[in-house]
Amino acid sequence: MKDALKLKAAEKALEFVEPGMKLGLGTGSTASKFIDLLGAKVKEGLDIIGVPTSEATRAQATALGIRLTTLDDDPILDLTIDGADEIDDTLRLIKGGGGALLREKIVAAASERMIVIADSSKRVPVLGAYPLPVEVVRFGVTATRNMIEMLAADAGCTGHIQLRMGYDGQPFVTDGGNYIFDCAFGRIEDPDALDEALKLIPGVVENGLFLGLADIAIVAGPDGVEILEAEYGGD
Ligand code: A5P
Repeated sequence: MKDALKLKAAEKALEFVEPGMKLGLGTGSTASKFIDLLGAKVKEGLDIIGVPTSEATRAQATALGIRLTTLDDDPILDLTIDGADEIDDTLRLIKGGGGALLREKIVAAASERMIVIADSSKRVPVLGAYPLPVEVVRFGVTATRNMIEMLAADAGCTGHIQLRMGYDGQPFVTDGGNYIFDCAFGRIEDPDALDEALKLIPGVVENGLFLGLADIAIVAGPDGVEILEAEYGGD
């Protein structure tokens, strides 16, 4: 059921893709469905070029014959399409369940627009039921963990903070060579305050809060596909 909904959201997102676009290509099971569909369009002659947000996405896109570039050659992208672990009513997100949050955030920030695709289980009234991934450098990891605990508490967030482990029983290592702490805060009442607090910690590379980045969310549920637009104002 969820798989079918993810596919529906991915199909809708394809309608936003125009010939000649430079696309950010997301990571995860939902983004992967979109990339499959995009690959089929490319085979039919659609001319786009993409920047992958992970090595997994790079491999998938390459296998499908999608032309790839880098943010060094193309620092501004037209559109990024990616999944999310949680989406609130104002399109604030938690991402990074797949461990690709750093590249995902860099690519989203380099894009004119970001479209999030998801099944309706990802919609939440308050972020935080999904443990927030925080990417940290390996050096001084315990000190960094303790600082996350302390500063998150100052921002009103407490809960179990766990080093993510890989299938091999060793700590999970991101594409950037870093570790991830999954922070089970339960409710993040003030995501901006938490984001600011985490950014103060030297060992923290990035966190999975995507604030002010998503422009549109395409959410597929049993009753149909909903399109939500963010209201950031200013333009
Ligand atoms: C990858 O790091 C994540 O940000 C994914 O975009 C997110 O975890 C959603 O993944 P699924 O589409 O597999 O639920």
